[in-house]
Amino acid sequence: MTSQKIAIMGAMPEEIEPIIDKLENVQTDVYGDNKYYEGTYHGQEVVVAYSKIGKVFAALTATTLIEKFGCDLLLFSGVAGAISDELKIGDLIIANGLCQHDLDITAFGHPFGYVPEGTICIHTDAVLRDIAKNVAQQKGLTIQEGIIATGDQFIADPERKEWIKNTFKADALEMEGASVAVVCNALNVPFFVLRAISDSADMDASFNFDEFLESSAKISADFILSMVDAIGR
Ligand code: ADE
Repeated sequence: MTSQKIAIMGAMPEEIEPIIDKLENVQTDVYGDNKYYEGTYHGQEVVVAYSKIGKVFAALTATTLIEKFGCDLLLFSGVAGAISDELKIGDLIIANGLCQHDLDITAFGHPFGYVPEGTICIHTDAVLRDIAKNVAQQKGLTIQEGIIATGDQFIADPERKEWIKNTFKADALEMEGASVAVVCNALNVPFFVLRAISDSADMDASFNFDEFLESSAKISADFILSMVDAIGR
């Protein structure tokens, strides 16, 4: 892969600040009430933005990065709540597929997470996942791969967490990934979603989230920058 324009997005300032700090030749642009940072990283063209929290803002930002800024592929970096017991705070997970746990027209006989002409799960780009695995190996890092469930809810409830686990076979949950997946899939743009664990979506979730947001967001952001290097090679 050479000289493509790479979109890097997060949902919150903390998720993209470690990336913005490392950019060269930065120019900012405001569009749709959101700020975009165009620049280079080790010579590779990138456009970086945080969307604000939730599926709607994330869809708007992903669409803008692709349609207005002409990005050819999209990397999402941020934090997530763990569902799998294998995932501890600071651990990295690559989304293999993403689903919307709060999408519900079961009243019409459809499964949770499904609307007609859509799919329950949207898969991320296999080439980008392979690049991530190679980067992890080079860095001596363990990285897990699994299903990420997205919804417009901060989950701090063991029962809801268990329901998401059982219904979607999800390993982690967050509030943006699946909406970015819908946009990138519809616009034929290869995409990748990486998350570092900030909490376990349980009773302690809000407390742990506040404590670990910054450190986990940086773990994810640093990994994404190594992926940019690997993609540019
Ligand atoms: N992102 C990080 N932790 C989360 C949680 N517990 N619920 C939803 N999104 C999250």
